[in-house]
Amino acid sequence: MKNKNLINEYIDIQVAERRNLKKNKFKFKKYSLVLAFFAILFLPFVGFAFMSNLKINISRVNNVKRSVNNDLSILGHLPYKEVSNEKLVFIEPNIEVHIDMRESLLKMREDANRDGIYLVFLSGYRSINLQNDIFYSLKSSRNQIAAERARVSAPPGYSEHSTGFAIDIGDANNREKDFDVEFENTDAFRWLKKNAAKYHFKLSFNQNNKNVDYEPWHWRYEGSIEALKVFEASNRNLKNSSLLKN
Ligand code: DAL
Ligand code: ZN
Repeated sequence: MKNKNLINEYIDIQVAERRNLKKNKFKFKKYSLVLAFFAILFLPFVGFAFMSNLKINISRVNNVKRSVNNDLSILGHLPYKEVSNEKLVFIEPNIEVHIDMRESLLKMREDANRDGIYLVFLSGYRSINLQNDIFYSLKSSRNQIAAERARVSAPPGYSEHSTGFAIDIGDANNREKDFDVEFENTDAFRWLKKNAAKYHFKLSFNQNNKNVDYEPWHWRYEGSIEALKVFEASNRNLKNSSLLKN
């Protein structure tokens, strides 16, 4: 032992240090007890915060569900008032539209022409009376119940066409695809998909629609405050449905 100490004085040899394990163990126990004490003290607050947060989220989802379910829609179509006569203008012998969208619609067709695309306007404003004939006479002739018919045609008082802000569009080079899902495979549709928003037009019935079939030919104008007000409920429902999906 004496020899070892002598060596250590001249050469720096590492020797194991004896730790006081008992003391550390006691310290650890003490900290654990303090931690446990605080954890128990704060547990009710953490639980309360968690429950309130859960409650807020559940009530938010319920509100969204309520606003989607409590809308006034019939068979997936929202109600629309008929536009007054003085707001309608003819853009072609058979096509009347809301005056707000006239300029934008004609400009869109003109610009498409310049790109070698020839848009044809198939149907614009339709009175509630005309929509009544379309919905009920076609429904009976096709031997379809209302819910089936409503997938392709709005009940009277529920068509965007009665607002004057909807327009059905075809491709002059593919007339056989008028009012057909195949319209989506035309240059006219591809052009519209890429450019229509510049002119404030939006596809009303896309592939994700639950109650109404996909209509690539049916566009609505949202480029004036009046148009935005008309479609506010529809846009709110779309937003809420996508919130519910998330
Ligand atoms: N085809 C659309 C849904 C309408 O009738 O308004
Ligand atoms: Zn339409």
